[in-house]
Amino acid sequence: MTHQIGYIVGSLARGSINRTLSQALVRLAPADLEFTEIPIGNLPLYSWDYDADYPPEGRSFKAAVEASDGLLIVSPEYNRSIPGALKNAIDWGSRPWGQNSFARKPVGIIGASPGGIGTAVMQSSMRAVLSFLDAPQLNSPEAYITYVADDFGVDGEVSNDSTAGFLRHYMDEYCAFVQRVLAVTAPGHI
Ligand code: FNR
Repeated sequence: MTHQIGYIVGSLARGSINRTLSQALVRLAPADLEFTEIPIGNLPLYSWDYDADYPPEGRSFKAAVEASDGLLIVSPEYNRSIPGALKNAIDWGSRPWGQNSFARKPVGIIGASPGGIGTAVMQSSMRAVLSFLDAPQLNSPEAYITYVADDFGVDGEVSNDSTAGFLRHYMDEYCAFVQRVLAVTAPGHI
């Protein structure tokens, strides 16, 4: 059975290396997964003033999260933490109180940086946030990608066999993880 995966790119930059990484992951994923990007750049800054009447951008973000069988977060690390635009999107999805769209949604977290620790600190922060939001997470394998531009084409083709193999394995494990979670949370779906 095919599973619908919503992926979120944590960068708003036009030349984002994490957008390129997301394209590579989509290319290398098992055929059982179908991907749709869930945009975050159109969301206003969240305030609970909106809770009484969510604007269309907030509603459509929550609807896209809820319509996904699983989520894949592909994000940079900014100042050793979660980029503001991504944290803002998560705040939108978590509210209004009692209507947390992330609850029981299987999530993979991955990211690329030119630096050696490959978004490890962002991922650690993200895991704490998603734990609070009751979202099961792929714990292993972890994927801290030190981005080497020559290894990636503009549409996410991966020319380095070792990198391609690592990312393919990550997506195989991600697919198996989503299926394990769905077997419990949506048994009719598997
Ligand atoms: C960065 N960068 C960065 N890199 C890192 O490994 N750890 C960090 O804490 C930070 N902090 C940081 C803050 C801000 C505001 C910027 C703009 C950048 C560098 C970052 O990894 C690099 O710019 C990547 O290209 C960002 O990913 P995207 O936006 O290209 O996907």
